[in-house]
Amino acid sequence: EAGDARNTREDHQLRVSKIRDGTVIDHVRGGQALNVLAILGIDGSEGEELSVGMNVPSDRLARKDIVKVEGRELSQDEVDVLSLIAPDATINIVRDYEVIEKHRVERPEVVEGVLSCPNSGCITTGGEPVSSRFDVLSDGVRCAYCETIVRDGIAALIDT
Ligand code: CTP
Ligand code: ZN
Repeated sequence: EAGDARNTREDHQLRVSKIRDGTVIDHVRGGQALNVLAILGIDGSEGEELSVGMNVPSDRLARKDIVKVEGRELSQDEVDVLSLIAPDATINIVRDYEVIEKHRVERPEVVEGVLSCPNSGCITTGGEPVSSRFDVLSDGVRCAYCETIVRDGIAALIDT
């Protein structure tokens, strides 16, 4: 085998090494890994152990991102929002180095109470006890109250 090919693969393994226990979010659209971290509320400041690969070659997508988080499982709300920016993602649960569960994300029809509407005149943002509700479109989300549509920048709407 050519040394170059071997070196490339070893580099790749070094870049995104296996994890012991946690979650691997794989087949994320190239360039979306930092938004995945935003959705999970991970900025590294709490010592979270994580690996991020960006724009790595993939057989399914032209280029993919991959996020591996040690010691963390995802809530359904988190997976629902992830599906909006990474519709082809697979969530792999790893225990003791083995993938014990793998599933594709599914786009929900609505997301409630997770995103906040960017329209300051919206009833959901005015201090009324109305929680947010967005209909999921093929290319974005639409506020069910004021009909504001957001296509890019969905991660920035995450209610923290
Ligand atoms: N993985 C990891 N740590 C482990 C086990 C797996 O980081 N201890 C990662 C792999 O590197 C891969 C993903 O989890 O990115 C899924 O692992 P696996 O199912 O073994 O790989 P594939 O069969 O290639 O997955 P798929 O068919 O979903 O592409
Ligand atoms: Zn609204």
